[in-house]
Amino acid sequence: MTTFKVVRLHNENGHRVSRLEESRLDDLDPGDVVIRSQYAAVNYKDARAVTGVGNVVKRLPCIPGIEVGGIVASSKSPKFREGDVVTVQGGAEFGIRHDGAYSEFVRVPAEWVYPVSGGFDSFSVVALGIAAYTAAVAVEELIAHGVSPDKGKVAVTGATGGCASFVIDMLAGLGFHVVAVTGKPEAAGYLRELGAKEIIGRDAIAPGAKALETQLWAGAIDAVGGKPLDDLLRTMNKRGVVCAYGNAAGENFTTSIYPFILRSVQLVGVNANHPVGLRGDAWRRLAGDLRPRNLDRIVTKVSFAELPAYCERVIAGGIRGRGVLQF
Ligand SMILES: NC(=O)c1ccc[n+]([C@@H]2O[C@H](COP(=O)([O-])OP(=O)(O)OC[C@H]3O[C@@H](n4cnc5c(N)ncnc54)[C@H](OP(=O)(O)O)[C@@H]3O)[C@@H](O)[C@H]2O)c1
Repeated sequence: MTTFKVVRLHNENGHRVSRLEESRLDDLDPGDVVIRSQYAAVNYKDARAVTGVGNVVKRLPCIPGIEVGGIVASSKSPKFREGDVVTVQGGAEFGIRHDGAYSEFVRVPAEWVYPVSGGFDSFSVVALGIAAYTAAVAVEELIAHGVSPDKGKVAVTGATGGCASFVIDMLAGLGFHVVAVTGKPEAAGYLRELGAKEIIGRDAIAPGAKALETQLWAGAIDAVGGKPLDDLLRTMNKRGVVCAYGNAAGENFTTSIYPFILRSVQLVGVNANHPVGLRGDAWRRLAGDLRPRNLDRIVTKVSFAELPAYCERVIAGGIRGRGVLQF
């Protein structure tokens, strides 16, 4: 290989700007494993990085992208050999402070690299990736806090998003009555195909503005925070459980103490940013009872050339499911 394509984020006069560029291996941050990329995920966080929104990437210039799957091209580590199918996913450095996934070749320390096994391949491991893992952890938390299909309906906000699409698929597969909450009424057919029994608009979670409204939900899995999270809390059943993992509608929310002290509602935080090596049980369940039934429906493949525009659409809330960059 002489040169290859990358998307690199720069600081230009105080503005974050990403460009499709040609690069050389020597230009990449150091590491003992070089991977020929086959697939990379497009998470909400990645879209923010590529479009220069916020400060996801902590060092500039840098190549964004936090999940890649591919083939080892060369390795100075005895742990890997040329031809191994591997993945790098998440952590505090990859695509944040160290050149990341949006590159035809990736160079990283061996300890960030994991072999792909257990019936997965480089596509499915990225297509599922952090989104399906987060969904699995959130679903496990909901169940661990006592919510079961016989207790009542479960609301899923940000329903057409990458994580939430997997949440709906998994909950429906486990027999829950899922109510998908979305800002995209035109996606109702998609959400029903994933297994949602009912679809409601973002503004229709709570019927009124009182501190406590009619009890509607035994459980909720929330991708968005902000006002929809308050609306959920005000309409949970007695002993209802909300698992919150995202901030697409806002980092802050205002609520009252009443759902907690009058209905014993529980608000459970979900942080799924675990190193791949510690993902054990939930990741094994992704190969078993939580294996998404609708992976092909959920995933949209995008090319390098389409990536910047696709990221703009993610930020504008105009996509559904999970984007996967195919090299
Ligand atoms: N806690 C963790 O470990 C963890 C792990 C992964 C992701 N996350 C977070 O989870 C969230 C979802 O991630 P993702 O990758 O699934 O993102 P995504 O694919 O972009 O989905 C987000 C969804 O939220 C909804 N949405 C967007 N803007 C909104 C707004 N202003 N108000 C209300 N809803 C809005 C949209 O769905 P509808 O149009 O259907 O409403 C959108 O599809 C993000 O905040 C991400 O940072 C957290």
